[in-house]
Amino acid sequence: MLDPKDWSELRKQGHHMLDDMFDYLQNIQSKPVWQQAPSHVQASFQDDLSEHGQPLSQLHEQFMHDILPYSVGNTHPGFMGWVHGGGTPVGMLAEMLAAGLNANLGGRNQIPIDVEWQVIGWMRDLFGFPDGSSGILTTGTSSATIIALTTARHAIATTSKPLAVYASIEAHGCITRALKIMGMDINMLRKIPTNDEYQMDIISLQQHIQNDQQHSIQPWLIIGTAGSVNTGSIDDLSALAEIAKKVGAWLHIDGALGALAMLSASIAPRLQGIQHADSLAMDFHKWGQVPYDAGLALIRDGENHRQCFSTGDTYLQRESKGLAAHSPWPCDYGMDLSRGFRALKIWFTFQHFGKKRLGDMIEHSCELAQYLTTHIQKTDNLELMAPVSLNIVCFRYIGDGSQQAQAYDAINRAMICHIHTSGLAAPSLTYLNHRAVIRAAIVNHRTQIKDIGKLLAAVQQAARVCDQIPH
Ligand SMILES: Cc1ncc(COP(=O)(O)O)c(C=O)c1O
Repeated sequence: MLDPKDWSELRKQGHHMLDDMFDYLQNIQSKPVWQQAPSHVQASFQDDLSEHGQPLSQLHEQFMHDILPYSVGNTHPGFMGWVHGGGTPVGMLAEMLAAGLNANLGGRNQIPIDVEWQVIGWMRDLFGFPDGSSGILTTGTSSATIIALTTARHAIATTSKPLAVYASIEAHGCITRALKIMGMDINMLRKIPTNDEYQMDIISLQQHIQNDQQHSIQPWLIIGTAGSVNTGSIDDLSALAEIAKKVGAWLHIDGALGALAMLSASIAPRLQGIQHADSLAMDFHKWGQVPYDAGLALIRDGENHRQCFSTGDTYLQRESKGLAAHSPWPCDYGMDLSRGFRALKIWFTFQHFGKKRLGDMIEHSCELAQYLTTHIQKTDNLELMAPVSLNIVCFRYIGDGSQQAQAYDAINRAMICHIHTSGLAAPSLTYLNHRAVIRAAIVNHRTQIKDIGKLLAAVQQAARVCDQIPH
């Protein structure tokens, strides 16, 4: 067996490991946001697997020296790249409890499944989905999207018409990926332009639909985005719901980034229409600060969802009582039969902090984004590149403005790399209107005004260095 011979030794070691992680999180501010791993450290992860085991203390030491300092840095308040949540010590502890229990949430008669159903029920209430809707926790929005779109395809199984999908040019790549995995014809994905607010252009959507209908193509699926990955824009979800209803299309909403803003009373009205979605994919590991990974697919027609994924294997036969009771099981609603207890870290996070505190934290990220926006607008050599809808600020360095805009693409890219390497902050790069921009996504609950100040200082420092390159 693999349990320790000496439990008291393990306890000591376990407490030591726990303390190290508390120290790490408590003192995260004093560390660089990110640092390049030295080549000898990278090389050490190419060693062959040893024949015999090593003491836990030794592995822990290697973790502290060679792994922990060289992760992406999203626990750090200066991390503003891509869309990463910061995690919490509460989530970390819940992960430990879940790992200790080692529950397999594919199915069977066990309370951990009730925890998952409870979390899904909270989200059903939060997003105004009706009784009879269903859900399943996933690794993230990418996999939740596959579940949602596969269910949408199942709902029209008998149609022989070609099927069209409508998503804005700002929609996340997980939509295209899901359609590819499903074997759908990617040429039928209509990329709808956006307006000045980076929201899907409703008139253009209607024109595309009309055009398809005239050619006997079925408007199958409309994708709305609640918080786009580039700028945080929120599509007009009510308008999309109305159009979907009128033309008989399935409305799917990608709420990976912004759906949890429903927790904020001041932002929630801007998500109006989300309650009419046929499916919603969203994440807890971003603005929900739940440790990776944790996402959700929510489906309005729960029976269609179950029929789409349940298989009826004989060895998974259900009973009315005993360990094989408590049907339906989570495996009836998704791709995975063996599934971890990711519900527990979500349950702990929501129960511990409560809706109000989580909503306030989300609002605070948006206030910081506005603070950063104001500073950019007041700074001559910086230009705001998109309206700030939620917590994402896109801007670029423009020098004294005398050069062609494209001349600054390479400088802005070099600046981002310089800022990363400085360890002071970590924004990321994106392109808007074919221009390279610096993108700060303020997702981490630890980020405060002083971290915005550090980002601005790092940007100016990087500009001084990178504006020397020929352009
Ligand atoms: C708008 C949007 N949709 C989907 C995704 C994919 O989510 P996940 O990384 O959880 O698969 C992201 C990730 O950043 C996102 O921002």
